[in-house]
Amino acid sequence: MIVLEDVSVQYKGVDEDAIKRVSITITEGEFVCVLGKSGAGKSTFLRSLNGLQSLSSGEIIVNNIALSNLKERELRLIRCNIGMIFQHFHLIPRLTVLQNALTGTFGKRKPWKNLIGLFSAEEKQVAMNALRAVELEDFWNRRVEELSGGQKQRVGIARTLVQNPKIFLGDEPVSSLDPSTAIKIFKLLKQIHEEKKLVTIINVHDVQLAKRFATRILGLKNGELVFDGTSDEMSEDVMKQIYGSEYEKQLYY
Ligand SMILES: Nc1ncnc2c1ncn2[C@@H]1O[C@H](COP(=O)(O)OP(=O)(O)O)[C@@H](O)[C@H]1O
Ligand SMILES: [Mg+2]
Repeated sequence: MIVLEDVSVQYKGVDEDAIKRVSITITEGEFVCVLGKSGAGKSTFLRSLNGLQSLSSGEIIVNNIALSNLKERELRLIRCNIGMIFQHFHLIPRLTVLQNALTGTFGKRKPWKNLIGLFSAEEKQVAMNALRAVELEDFWNRRVEELSGGQKQRVGIARTLVQNPKIFLGDEPVSSLDPSTAIKIFKLLKQIHEEKKLVTIINVHDVQLAKRFATRILGLKNGELVFDGTSDEMSEDVMKQIYGSEYEKQLYY
């Protein structure tokens, strides 16, 4: 469970808060999509949840542990349980699919083992299982730089599966993919979400994707939470509230 209590974030040298007094609770089983225009605060919001972003006020409590005042070492332990996928994948292009998936073990290993890239047979098996789950088992020995965008994101998901997190975060993970690949990736994320009973929170650009997959939609505007509801409650008025004059673009996406 993730609880935000009156959370604000202010960047140095910027007057306006990037996140403004957000209070919400997100529980196991929720598949949350966060909507908002570029600059609305989606990435800042997501980074706050795994302690990568310090707050200017308020508190975030992840599985009963308050994040503020934790030491970096303690934060790292919490982050082991939080998987993250990104728009631009954050993979290591020259390494193979399997090697990239294995980096999902890094949080739990001794640093010197990561340096020399020595993995146990068991770790390799876990990584191969993750590659099977994302249907990339046959690609295990291919370099990531040779793959398509959708395949790269599936490697990103496999890496996160290897990490075996309780919480799955995605910062616009399908924004650089074509619409049909984006839907496939979302189906995969939803399937993993249901199998592993995760908390999943994904920033999305595309309202239609959020409406189709989310059990709960959050709308951010200028750092404020202006909507918190279900797909059915995403009316045209709500869209106008979140997107302002750009809302029509979202209707025909
Ligand atoms: N490192 C930073 N320093 C100063 N301002 C930032 C920084 N990162 C983001 N911002 C500002 O905070 C606001 C929210 O940004 P962001 O969370 O990236 O929004 P989104 O992901 O919805 O596009 C924007 O106004 C952005 O310019
Ligand atoms: Mg962003």
